[in-house]
Amino acid sequence: VERFRKDYALPAQLVGAVELKFEIFETETLVHAALHVEPASPPRREPMVLDGEELALRSIEMDGAPLVEGSDFTLSAAGLTLLSPPLTPFTLRTVVAIKPQENTQLSGLYKSSGNFVTQCEAEGFRRITYFQDRPDIMATYKVRIEADKQAYPLLLSNGNEVGKGDLPSGRHFAEFVDPFRKPSYLFACVAGKLDGIEDKYTTASGRDVRLAIWSEPENIDQLGWAMQSLKDAMRWDEQTYGLEYDLDVYHIVAVNDFNMGAMENKGLNVFNTACVLAKPSTATDDDYERVQGVVAHEYFHNWSGNRVTCRDWFQLTLKEGLTVFRDQHFSSDMTSEAVKRIEDARIMRSAQFAQDAGPMAHPIRPESYIAMDNFYTVTVYNKGAEVIRMYRTLLGAQGFRKGMDLYFARHDGQAVTCDDFRAAMADANGRDLTQFERWYLQAGTPTVKARGEYDAEGGVYSLTLSQTTPPTPGQPHKLPFHIPVVTGLLARDGTTLVDSTVLELTEEEQTFKFEGITSPPVVSLLRGFSAPVKVDLPRSDEELAFLAANDADPFNRWDASQRLATRVLLEMAAGCDATQTDALEKEVPSSLIDAFRATLCAPGLDNSLKAYSLSLPDFGTLSQEMDPIEPDSLLAALKATRKAIARQLHSELAAAYDALAPPAGAAFTLEPEAVGRRRLRNVCLSYLAKLGDEDRALAQFRSATCMTESIAAVRALVESPGAARDEVLSTFYERAKANKEALVINKWLAVQAAADTPDALETVKSLMAHESFDANNPNTLRSVVNTFAGANPAGFHKADGSGYRFISEQVIDIDKRNPQVAARLCNAFNTWRRYSGARQDMMKGELMRIKESPGLSKDTFEIASRSLA
Ligand code: ARG
Ligand code: ZN
Repeated sequence: VERFRKDYALPAQLVGAVELKFEIFETETLVHAALHVEPASPPRREPMVLDGEELALRSIEMDGAPLVEGSDFTLSAAGLTLLSPPLTPFTLRTVVAIKPQENTQLSGLYKSSGNFVTQCEAEGFRRITYFQDRPDIMATYKVRIEADKQAYPLLLSNGNEVGKGDLPSGRHFAEFVDPFRKPSYLFACVAGKLDGIEDKYTTASGRDVRLAIWSEPENIDQLGWAMQSLKDAMRWDEQTYGLEYDLDVYHIVAVNDFNMGAMENKGLNVFNTACVLAKPSTATDDDYERVQGVVAHEYFHNWSGNRVTCRDWFQLTLKEGLTVFRDQHFSSDMTSEAVKRIEDARIMRSAQFAQDAGPMAHPIRPESYIAMDNFYTVTVYNKGAEVIRMYRTLLGAQGFRKGMDLYFARHDGQAVTCDDFRAAMADANGRDLTQFERWYLQAGTPTVKARGEYDAEGGVYSLTLSQTTPPTPGQPHKLPFHIPVVTGLLARDGTTLVDSTVLELTEEEQTFKFEGITSPPVVSLLRGFSAPVKVDLPRSDEELAFLAANDADPFNRWDASQRLATRVLLEMAAGCDATQTDALEKEVPSSLIDAFRATLCAPGLDNSLKAYSLSLPDFGTLSQEMDPIEPDSLLAALKATRKAIARQLHSELAAAYDALAPPAGAAFTLEPEAVGRRRLRNVCLSYLAKLGDEDRALAQFRSATCMTESIAAVRALVESPGAARDEVLSTFYERAKANKEALVINKWLAVQAAADTPDALETVKSLMAHESFDANNPNTLRSVVNTFAGANPAGFHKADGSGYRFISEQVIDIDKRNPQVAARLCNAFNTWRRYSGARQDMMKGELMRIKESPGLSKDTFEIASRSLA
């Protein structure tokens, strides 16, 4: 069934308090539930609908009296309906049996490496007990867990532990009370054999909080960074927003099998190990950044999500967009603002703009869904964060803080909407933000067209901005957005004529005048990526090179380098002969080589910024600007350009590589300076490897002191057949296996699945037959299958269609075990209309095969059918 935002209605009965008892056994788990129900006021005579999936009902009674199926209630595959519940408060008691050990969907209560854990967002609680499984039903929870004491010594649930003890037959129990009312999606419990580290945090107002992070015993030396990140996040939220933690204890549990990154369950976060574990020998600098960001993200949810939650799932961006914005801001404060901004913009351009341009395009607040899990998207999350950032740009940092204060003051303890958030921002600042709602209503990426005119006599520069947004499914015509365009003007000598100014574009077209401009300016537009839009402003290669070197805004310096590269690559790809790579290499214009040389050799420029400026835009970003997409030409252009850069800048790259070597004996650090050094050095290495320079990569691998160094060396060698490649791959694997480092093995799998080699698909198939491959583990699956579909364009788009066929077979197969993971993979075909001829036909054919395969989940059905619509 498809659900619509416009159909929202509060039910006639509301669960206000819940008591749960879990009796965990190996063959089944019994869940005893007592739901204390209050009628809405005024009471309405309506049936009460309780969601439930794959539950075996063992008993049911109301206020002590057993209920009869048929006359008192009915059962279906989707739940239980009380036909005529009383108009006065009552208590419903049920006992159900579930089988967590057979739960391969990883939604509800399931087993991961022998430990019981839960994942309830969005609709997993209904797989635990009969309940109104929707976020506007907020209740207090009392929980008791009983399990075998030896096998499951650690028992956890939300809130504070209020009792524990031993039971007969080697069993034990623990009891918990969570004093904060919460929606069911924030429920969690854990029963397992885990080791942990503990720490303490004292809040600004002087309350002591116990912090504990749990994982399998062999991971215990990899939890310190997550703990540090948690404490940093707690301090940052106090300092930035005046928000403190509210319970006496905060647990993080890391598990191997998890569909997403992590989950913000009240006081008991459950994490994918990939977002917790870090030590220098196993985690790259990017992994460290991800752990820091995700730990902070889940912590920030305690206010933006838990204390104030969503009324319904259409409002998901209310908590996710806001919380991603908060974690981005935190990471930016902890590392480097410019670097973080570039990383976030790269995700927007490669993944979110692509989603906006395809069949899954949806507003950050979607209007309908079949499977809510399909809408945990880069649009809801990352574009949602950009929308929050725009409030801050429009209102200023102080105005934004006023709005946040009002939002939390007004809505603490409530389940609210995106409109409530917008109203708080408007009211706190006395601003009319009516038009701003269009960011929540309309899908698609706007293009802002800019044309400037300089009147030398009057000293006036006139900038005309106009906006258009292409049609998206169900939305043929768009109204103008309220777009903050942060703009500056530079003189031709690089000095500043006009500092960054927020231009508010609200009409289809507007002209902004800058007076007192004494020399012809160069405009710097959309500084800091001030809105999630594309810019249409024709510029010469010289102007782009000038901005790449001189713009006062570091984001726009990077952007200029990307634009220059994009133009070159697209021109080369247009109608090229993909087999003639040597000839193609000669076509790379010197303007690009010169600009790259200038960046590489610029004195005093941050190494991370250099690294990102010297990295070419990826296939996904470039292909959006090609119509139809010709993967062979585009890949050939990318290859030839990389080679031309490597050949023509060989001595500069080699010199930089050697000069960036870590000082002998230097200890590992995550200081931005050290990260930037490794980042730029690895970019140099990847270019040098294009010319077959194996010596440097091999030496780097052998002397590596951290994962950032070793994995980059493996990546540099993986496409060149030979002894060096074989040596690093087998050494890397054997070491990870001996140390039982599953996440490191996943890196080993991913690096091979992404390799552009003639036998890429055979490689992927042999990886799936490898002893390390676990078809039920989402991380392993993603490392191989999703990496091939998303990061190996040559393999996936191979002209014979073998890549397409392989992925559709995987979607159909994985769907039987884990619909969420299968549906995500199915998105790989969303671009099918952008290809021509045989490729388009083959991709469409695979989608139809998927859509028609028997027993398909609603998750995968929704992606396939939207894609074909
Ligand atoms: N709320 C979690 C987070 O962003 C994501 C959980 C999504 N899970 C899912 N099955 N859709 O931190
Ligand atoms: Zn989140």
